[in-house]
Parts: sequence; C-alpha cells; structure tokens
Amino acid sequence: MNPQQPHDAVLLFEAVEALVQGKKLQIADDESSQKIDGIFIDCTFGRGGHSRELLSRLSDESQLLAFDKDPQAIAVAEKLAQEDPRFSIVHDSFSQLEQVVTSLGWLGKVDGILMDLGVSSPQLDQAERGFSFMQDGPLDMRMNSSEGQTAADWIANTKEADMVFVFKAYGEERYAKRIARAICEKRAQESIETTKQLANIIAEAHPRWEKHKHPATRCFQAIRIAVNSELDDLKAVLEQSVRALTKGGRLVAISFHSLEDRIVKQFIRDQEKGQDLPAGLPITEDQIKRSMKRVGKFVKAGEEELSRNNRARSAVMRVAEKLTAEAA
Ligand SMILES: C[S@@+](CC[C@H](N)C(=O)[O-])C[C@H]1O[C@@H](n2cnc3c(N)ncnc32)[C@H](O)[C@@H]1O
Repeated sequence: MNPQQPHDAVLLFEAVEALVQGKKLQIADDESSQKIDGIFIDCTFGRGGHSRELLSRLSDESQLLAFDKDPQAIAVAEKLAQEDPRFSIVHDSFSQLEQVVTSLGWLGKVDGILMDLGVSSPQLDQAERGFSFMQDGPLDMRMNSSEGQTAADWIANTKEADMVFVFKAYGEERYAKRIARAICEKRAQESIETTKQLANIIAEAHPRWEKHKHPATRCFQAIRIAVNSELDDLKAVLEQSVRALTKGGRLVAISFHSLEDRIVKQFIRDQEKGQDLPAGLPITEDQIKRSMKRVGKFVKAGEEELSRNNRARSAVMRVAEKLTAEAA
C-alpha cells in the first residue's frame, strides 16, 4: 500500500480556470503577478491535484477548504495544511458542506466549489481497498474505510429484490435479475468475501459479455455507489452549494458516468428554470427566482490529456454560476 501514490487530476486546468474566472484579482506592488482573492471549496481532495493548482493562483488572504472521506487522502491533505495556512481539510462527506460552511460563517460567501466525483486512482489500484475486479482483494469498496458497511456486508445482507434494483438503477445492468439470483444462491452456500469471488459469480451468471468490458463492471459500479451513498451525497451537495455560493460564485462538477452527469445536468437546468409556476402568469423576472445559470457547454478532455490519462475518457465537466446574492 502506498498512500502517497499519485492521482492524475482530470481536466485540471479547465476546472481551475472555470472556478476562478471573473474573480477579483490582487495585483502585486511590482505588477509582476496577479493573484485571486476568495474563498474556495474542493469537495473531493483525492491527492490534491486540483487543490494545489488552485492554491498556486490564490492570494495570501484567500482560503481553500477541502473535503474527503478517504483516510489516505486525509493524510496527504493534512501535510498540505501544515505547509500552507490558506488550506484546511475536513474528514467527512461533502454532503456536510452546508453545516461546515455555516460554522465558518461562509454561507453565501463562497467564490467557487469544485467536485471531481467518483474514486481516485489509488483507491482503484490498491487491491486491499476492494474496488477492483481486476485484482483480488477483500470486498470492501468503502471510500471511508473506517466506517459503514463494506461491500461484503452489503452482499451478505441485501434482499434479492433490492439487489436487482441497485444493479439496474446504479449499474444499468440488463441482467440484474439473473445476477442477483446467482449471488443469493451462492451466498446461501458460502460467504462472499473477495472481489475475485464476486467477479467470478457475476461473470458466470452474465449471459452476454460486452466487448472490452468485464461482465462485472456494471455491478461493481452499482455496489460501490450503494455502499458509499454516492448519488444521495451528490444531490445533497448540489442543493447546499447554491446556498454556500456568493453572487457570481461558480460550481464546477466533473462526473465519470452518466448517472452522475444526469444529476448535475438536471440540477443546473432546474436552477436556471427557477420556480415552477403555471404558464401565462403576469410575473416579473425577479419572481421566477432563477438561482443559477449554466456557463458554456459541457467540457470533455482533449486529445493530449486522453493520450496520457485513460481515466479522462469518461469525464464530463459542467459549470454553473450563481445569479443571486441570497444565502437561502
Ligand atoms: C476523483 S478523486 C479526486 C481527485 C482530486 N481532484 C485530485 O486532483 O487528486 C475523488 C475523491 O473524492 C472522494 N469522495 C468521493 N465522494 C465523496 C464524498 N461524498 N465526500 C467526500 N469525499 C468524497 C474520494 O474519496 C476520492 O478521494
């Protein structure tokens, strides 16, 4: 295990540029450099690629607060916090954003919020974290390996019907029923404790293998989402972001699969649309209460990035800007 293992940050410059665009610049006395003033939040520290790039653009008076669930990410972030007084870290889910921001007196004052969703390369690459069907390891999959149920607990305790739902909803797996049945039959004979054991059961039950895709890919994604409540956390942090941001503050979200991206896209659309009022009412623009506007189209990684980082293939970045000054 190497907790210092690097993570190749996806859409690094695009995301940081989108976060700071339009922010107040502090110009050095000798006019040699321009630094950005503001309060920023990195919801997904990982190994700190985005955080470090952002810090390199911020003035001495600026603040960057980061979240991560993962103890290994926290160890790296704590070192950074010791070296840089502008940076601080919270070991918790980003779904606690509003509570933390409120306790700091930052509600309605945050200039930019970044979320680079999903798992980091070190999480995927370390067999003992149990995220990958490519390597044998304990069936864990928890981002916060110090609390909550493991994937093995989930496999042991989830009702067959609920398993079918999760495989369908979070994995978009067509053969959810067959696979859940096979898992439930197997768990009645022996406990399912390792990634390889589970991957083999799924592969055997799966009637149609897709080209270049392991048959367990979809179910592993689904279990990971369920064990870490990924979609609920995402919905919560998006709602809270609107209240945390200042007028003109930016939300930048990078998603890695269509379920996440759909949630982000729909959220931005709803904020742009404002209140759902019956058509034809004589109302002013103010009364519609649009809280955010979309900034540009979605962004995907360019050729150069794709050639050196395969993980960037599925990344989609969306940006929105807060329109109002209200914190609630
Ligand atoms: C894709 S990585 C981020 C990589 C980071 N941008 C970098 O440059 O190193 C996602 C990180 O978010 C963390 N994470 C995912 N969901 C989270 C949540 N709900 N709350 C806090 N951290 C979360 C994961 O533990 C992982 O470290």
